[in-house]
Amino acid sequence: METAQLAYVLLFLVTAVLLFHLRRGGRSAPAKLTTAHRPHPNPVLGNTVEFIRNRRRFFDWYTDLLRASPSGAIEAWGPFGAGHAVTTACPAAVEHLLRGNFGNYVRGPSFRAAMSELIGDGLFAADGRLWSVQRKVASYAFSSRALRRFSDDVLAVHLRGTLLPFLDAAAASGEAVDLQDALRRFAFDSICHVAFGVESSTLLETAREDSRHEALFAAFDAAVEISFRRALAPFTLVRKLTGLLNVGSSRRLREAVGVIDDYAMSVVESKEAACRDREDGDGDGDPDLLSRFMAAMDEEDGGELGAMFPTPEGKRRLLRDVVVSFVLAGKDTTSSALTWLFWLLAANPRCERRVRDELSRSPDGGGGGDAKGMHTHYLHAAITEAMRLYPPVPFNGRVAVGDDVLPGGAAVRAGWFANYSAYAMGRMERLWGEDCLEFSPERWLRDGGEFVAVDAARYPVFHAGPRACLGKEMAYVQMKTVAAAVLRRFSVEVAAPAPAMDSPPAYEMTATMKMKGGLWVRLRKRE
Ligand code: HEM
Repeated sequence: METAQLAYVLLFLVTAVLLFHLRRGGRSAPAKLTTAHRPHPNPVLGNTVEFIRNRRRFFDWYTDLLRASPSGAIEAWGPFGAGHAVTTACPAAVEHLLRGNFGNYVRGPSFRAAMSELIGDGLFAADGRLWSVQRKVASYAFSSRALRRFSDDVLAVHLRGTLLPFLDAAAASGEAVDLQDALRRFAFDSICHVAFGVESSTLLETAREDSRHEALFAAFDAAVEISFRRALAPFTLVRKLTGLLNVGSSRRLREAVGVIDDYAMSVVESKEAACRDREDGDGDGDPDLLSRFMAAMDEEDGGELGAMFPTPEGKRRLLRDVVVSFVLAGKDTTSSALTWLFWLLAANPRCERRVRDELSRSPDGGGGGDAKGMHTHYLHAAITEAMRLYPPVPFNGRVAVGDDVLPGGAAVRAGWFANYSAYAMGRMERLWGEDCLEFSPERWLRDGGEFVAVDAARYPVFHAGPRACLGKEMAYVQMKTVAAAVLRRFSVEVAAPAPAMDSPPAYEMTATMKMKGGLWVRLRKRE
């Protein structure tokens, strides 16, 4: 490099550091009294170089760092201190973040900005009163009656109508198929059925009558991926520039969101028309999610939500955000858990035999879409154990409103991220014992064979506290029904990645734990 160029680079770095220090108004020094381990930050670039070096094994890198930290917390940051974050794998600290000091930890403006085009004001991105009002309305959609309806009307239809016929065809052909892709499409179709009330399929070509539904699947994938990358990026300059010029990922995001908007708005409008046609309010007894939110906004006094979104356009926009948030919640989570479960069962044939023994003794649901497998404790334990090792949401975080100190002593400053890694927590010897890296559903069973849950702060796979996952029960019904139906009907031989515990498959660095390259299986129909 020329001397002049070198001088410019140095000048740029010095100015940037000065600006950064000025911007933080003298609060630049990290908290002095903290037990959080700091993994060798560079004075200017923070932990960026290590982050780039470990980007393909990010969750394992963090697990290594958290294991080495006596307090179970680490503190890291990006260039010029951007993205300053404390991450913990300690149950007491998770309890504090998600329950004890819940009010101090919010989604925050940067997450909202990164996700705004996709989910706007929907439940996932909302904080404060906007979140709590939505949460209350949404929670009715997860009643036991709604669960039964999900199991009988949605799961049964998609299982018998598309997933099993698709797998039957794969078994007949003898060809390997990507089970992860099939499970993702199945979950997407089911959640769209719940959220939008549409009964389309992206899985079976003969059932793909609605090409808009296929386009919606692709649009969701693109929008989630781009939004997730934005949420991780420490700076917003590139995003703002590409947004202004409508090029690159900003353009792709806009196109994908356009497809989602058209679809969601047309569903909202036809629902409104259907409601007008039944002015007397004579509904079908158990309204779906969209109808619940419409009713909440139309309450006589306008309802609190109605008051927050007084114009018809504003109301429609929120309804769109609500359904999109739900699709997001259910789209990749259950399929991720099932993908890893099938791989782990193939790598541990002893456990697969126990699941099948239990299924052969339990009331036979005929592999159909009912929830009779709900009393299958071993299957429940196997799914829970698969998510301990491969949590569908491996890493999660909030932003601190005020300064705080986590149990264990890690200091968190206002504006910093406060994260927990469910992936690292599932792999901690101090939480699960010496065999923490083994797949052992038995660890969840009492001597009598009943499943025993642990506190969510130790197993935060579904989050914990006031913002804990609303769809947990629904997810278990879905996962157990699908696993039971597939294992009863087929012998599943994993073709790739090789099923061996000592060489686990790679994952993709996405919001949900996705197996890199998919899960390729050959199926043989059982007698
Ligand atoms: C194995 C499957 C699933 C796992 C592991 C899971 C995990 C999670 C996690 C970690 C969160 C917290 C997200 C955050 O606030 O940062 C969450 C929230 C949520 N989940 Fe799930 N989820 C699953 C399936 C589902 C399903 C099928 C639904 C239903 C459509 C659902 C609905 C929700 C909702 C509505 C929230 C937001 C709660 C709030 O912010 O108040 N989840 N889930």
